[in-house]
Amino acid sequence: MARYFLTTAIDYVNSRPHLGTAYEKVTADIIARYRRLSGYETHFLMGNDEHSQNVFKRAQEQGKDPLSYCDEMERVFRDVWKRLDVSYDDFIRTTDRRRHYPATQKLAQTCYDNGDIYEGSYEGWYCEGCEAFKPEKDLVDGNCPIHNTKPQWIKERNWFFRLSKYQQPLLKFYEEHPSFIEPEVRRNEILRLVEGGLEDISMSRTGQSWGIPVPFDRDSVVYVWFDALINYAAAVGYGWDDEQFKKWWPASLHVVGKDITRFHCVFWPAMLMSAGQALPAQVFGHGWVYFKGERMSKSLGNIVDPLDAADKFGPDPLRLYLAKEIPYGGDGDFTWERFEEKYNADLANNLGNLVNRVASMTERYQQGRVRATGGGSLAGVAAESVSAYRSAMDVHALHDGAAAAFRLISAANNFIAEKQPWALAKDPAKADQLNGVLADCAEAVRVAATLLLPIMPTSATEVLRRLGDEQPLADRRLDAGTAWRSSGEKQILNAGALWPRIEAEKGVVNVTDQPQTPAPEPQTPATPSTPPAAAAPATQAGPAPVETPAVITIDDFMKVQLKVAKILEAEKMPKSQRLLKLKVDAGEAEPRTILAGIAESYEPETLIGKSIVIVANLAPRKMMGLESNGMVLAASPDGGKAIVLNAEPADPGTRVR
Ligand code: MSP
Repeated sequence: MARYFLTTAIDYVNSRPHLGTAYEKVTADIIARYRRLSGYETHFLMGNDEHSQNVFKRAQEQGKDPLSYCDEMERVFRDVWKRLDVSYDDFIRTTDRRRHYPATQKLAQTCYDNGDIYEGSYEGWYCEGCEAFKPEKDLVDGNCPIHNTKPQWIKERNWFFRLSKYQQPLLKFYEEHPSFIEPEVRRNEILRLVEGGLEDISMSRTGQSWGIPVPFDRDSVVYVWFDALINYAAAVGYGWDDEQFKKWWPASLHVVGKDITRFHCVFWPAMLMSAGQALPAQVFGHGWVYFKGERMSKSLGNIVDPLDAADKFGPDPLRLYLAKEIPYGGDGDFTWERFEEKYNADLANNLGNLVNRVASMTERYQQGRVRATGGGSLAGVAAESVSAYRSAMDVHALHDGAAAAFRLISAANNFIAEKQPWALAKDPAKADQLNGVLADCAEAVRVAATLLLPIMPTSATEVLRRLGDEQPLADRRLDAGTAWRSSGEKQILNAGALWPRIEAEKGVVNVTDQPQTPAPEPQTPATPSTPPAAAAPATQAGPAPVETPAVITIDDFMKVQLKVAKILEAEKMPKSQRLLKLKVDAGEAEPRTILAGIAESYEPETLIGKSIVIVANLAPRKMMGLESNGMVLAASPDGGKAIVLNAEPADPGTRVR
């Protein structure tokens, strides 16, 4: 069985994990889970970086012995990762005396024996946040550009590693291994850096006790970065278990942030070359998660606690957001508003709605059972989605992988709108057709849920369970799980909403337990002055008095829920010149009826299939004996005919704002 050994950066423990550090662990976890699902024997390593001066100081501030402080922080970190469902196989700490000490000392000693470490003195600007010397040219107004703090001028006798010697071997290695550094933008940065020449780096610190003693100079400790990088080899046996090391080394992938790619793509490979060890296959430098456009930092006070984010809707919606909304390799933004919006769009309205629709209609029309058929157009979409997903996930384009799974989900929702199973159910002669539609949709959901297993492990497993597929996660395989099943029966469980819709009201978020009911939420202006249909063309004679429109806040505007809806049926209202009766798919469990004042503008049949915008949360209103649920948005020129706003190509249920 092919093996896959992947790692994340190990975290400094001077503060709790924030959403930025969590982003790295969650995305690496998605890659690890994808590899397991693809049949690789996978080893996923994470850990904590403890020999930092900042960690030492934080322990002192709290009056704690540094090791006990690190023990406490290990629990804090592990608890967060557990809550986010991060499935690491091993967790290493740099204070691990059994594994990390012998590995670090062996590697340092080997480089020394090979003539790559020499004694010298150094002075320069040292940033404690980065735990690194900073060239003067990299400072911005005298400050570290990452931490925005003034570095310290340090002058000390140190041991140096001959990094300069490895300039040409590194360039040759990059050339021979074009996929060693990803994405492309990081590769180019590193190439420019190395081509520009490399200076030797300090690999020890004097005058401090917190660290691993340098094996050939007991008065110095190993510099925290030299020490930290070795964790990847230490965890799998380097210096203490040759057999295990042979099994897992070299690593397949190091997932790290863009700020530390240079340590992983330059220092680390040079250290390994010096020690005569194989180099990892790949380093992926992901981007940063910003909060409202600013890098998360404690000093700016804009840290998002991943536990708060996970508590809001559960860990899976957060994992989906991080994977789908931030193109992997680029930077991305997190805001609570956007998180909520994507939750509603992707989960409440799209996947949750689909699961709910399929389960409730199957229960209502077929006692919860479907018989698979050959698979029509949806089988084709599924095959395309699976192949796009795999190509994307193989190159860590997690956002494209997630999008491919959601294309299948949207296609299944559109398929329902097009085939109208509720109409087929009225005609006993169409029972086979009805079964075919429901069976195809259920199968599409099953395939999509399989694709989503690495991203949303708990909820995808729950969706599969509702579809009668209860195989344990460890036994699932992507090939078998995503092949379209065109025979057999499924017993489908209608077990209620998976992701209740969130409605923002007066700035407070309410979780409703009826996300997919067709009736809009009663949350409207007290007495609508326009009918619950498109504002009818102006009828009053003469120019309307010029009024300054009242200014409203964004909160006021957000109370109006605008959504894309697809017109399924349209007919004239008897005895009305103005009103059309529309049946629209607004991405909900069942179509809703809206009476719209557009009969003078459109022949009903020309509207069928059009995507329009509706006000979805207008209080239902009775007109001419029928209840209208919502309002169609239309341009209403003075004295002219209403023009319905077109919302192609968005899917039914998409929020408009
Ligand atoms: N201890 C070093 C890594 C040593 S690896 C041998 C370190 N630790 S850290 O705690 O500062 O950062 C851990 C990881 O989190 C790094 O990969 C870093 O890039 C990443 N992130 C820190 N803030 C982040 C964001 N705001 N967004 C995304 N990733 C972020 O560096």
